[in-house]
Amino acid sequence: MGNREKVNILMVDDQPAKLLSYEVILAELGENLIKANSGREALEHLLKEDVAVVLMDVSMPEIDGFELADMIRQHPRFQKTAIIFISGVHLTDLDRLKGYQRGAVDYLSVPVNPELLRAKVSVFADLHRKTHQLEALNRELRTLSSNLIATQDDERRRIARELHDSLGQELSAAKMMTDKIIMLNRSAESTKEALEISNLIDHSIQQVRSISYLLHPPLLDEIGLQSALQFYLEGFTKRSGIEIILETKPSSFPRLTAEMETAMFRIVQEAVTNVFRHSGARAAWVALVKEEARVMGTIRDNGKGIADDIIEGRPDRIGVGIGGMRQRVKEFGGELRIGSANPGTIVEVTFPIEAAEGDSQTGVTSINRATQREVAL
Ligand SMILES: Nc1ncnc2c1ncn2[C@@H]1O[C@H](COP(=O)(O)OP(=O)(O)OP(=O)(O)O)[C@@H](O)[C@H]1O
Ligand SMILES: [Mg+2]
Repeated sequence: MGNREKVNILMVDDQPAKLLSYEVILAELGENLIKANSGREALEHLLKEDVAVVLMDVSMPEIDGFELADMIRQHPRFQKTAIIFISGVHLTDLDRLKGYQRGAVDYLSVPVNPELLRAKVSVFADLHRKTHQLEALNRELRTLSSNLIATQDDERRRIARELHDSLGQELSAAKMMTDKIIMLNRSAESTKEALEISNLIDHSIQQVRSISYLLHPPLLDEIGLQSALQFYLEGFTKRSGIEIILETKPSSFPRLTAEMETAMFRIVQEAVTNVFRHSGARAAWVALVKEEARVMGTIRDNGKGIADDIIEGRPDRIGVGIGGMRQRVKEFGGELRIGSANPGTIVEVTFPIEAAEGDSQTGVTSINRATQREVAL
C-alpha cells in the first residue's frame, strides 16, 4: 500500500475470540488494529489515540454498544468518528434507527461476512486518511500564503530602498551636472536643450520617489503608521479626487510592532484602493483606534455599497485584495468584518495587542485640508 499513513481501527468486544477473528479479517488492510475488551477500555484508547473507525459489539456487559456510542458522540473530538456496530441478534428496523439517531454510521450482523467487513472498514479508513491529508494541506497552504505575504513585504521594502538609494541618487547627480552645464553655458540653443533635460530628470526623480513610496513608505519604519497613512492618503486624495478623513484615537497614535504597522497600512491601502475602484464614493473615512488590548482600523465610504455574497466571503467573489486582508488579520489572531454602512461600505479590522497605556483624545485631520508636504525620501 505504498507509504500511506496508517490509521487506527478500534475493535471493541467483550469476547476475545471475536476480537481475534476481526483482527484476522482486517489484517490485510494494513492499518493499526487496536483491541478493547470493554466500553471503558475503548474510551481510554479513544482519549489517547486518533481513531478512524470504531468497530463494536452492540451487546456488551457494563456499557453496551449504544451507550458507548452515546458517550463517544458527546465528546466534540469524536463527533465525526465512524462507528460500525456488529450485532449477534437480529436487528429490527427500530434498532437500526436507534443507532443512527446516535450518529452511528453502519451495521453488520453476525455471522460477519469478512469481505463486507473489510470493505466497510476500508471505506471509513480511507475517508479518515483523506480528511487528515486535506487538513495538513490546508495548514501548509496557510503557512505558504503567510510566508508569501511576508516575502512580498520584504521584497517591496528592498526594491523601494534600491530605487531610492541607487536610481534616485544617480538621477540627482545627473540633475546637478545638467544644472551646472546650464550655468556655465553661454549658447542660448544648448541651454534650452539642457533645461529640457533638467526638467525631464526632475520628472524622473518624482516618478522614482512615487514608485518607491508606494512600494513601501519609508515613514512607516521611521515615523510610524499614523504619519505614513497621513502622507499616503494625502497623495491618494490628490490622485483620486476622493476626500479622505483620517481620524486617530489617541490623537498622537502610538507605535505598534513593525509587522502590525505594515499589516494595517496594507489593509488600509487595499481598502481605499477598493473604494476608488468599486464604490463610486465621493468621500471616505479612515479611523485608527488603539485601546488597551486591541487596535482597530475602520475604512468607511459613502459609495454604492457592497454585495452580500462578498460580505459572506464567497470565494469566487473576493479577489486578492480582500483575500490578502483576511490572511494578514489571521496571522495576528485578529478579526476582519466587511459590511454595508448604508450608504456605502465599511471594513473593520481588529488586532489584539499587549496592554499598554495611551491618551484618549481624538485627532481629526482632513486629508484635503492637510498641508501638502513633499515626502522626504
Ligand atoms: N468599498 C467597496 N465598495 C463596493 N464594492 C466593493 C468595495 N470593496 C470591495 N468591493 C467589492 O468586493 C470585490 C472584491 O474585492 P477585492 O479587493 O477582494 O478584489 P478586487 O478589488 O476586485 O481585485 P484585486 O484582487 O485587485 O483586489 C470587488 O470586486 C468589489 O466588487
Ligand atoms: Mg481590491
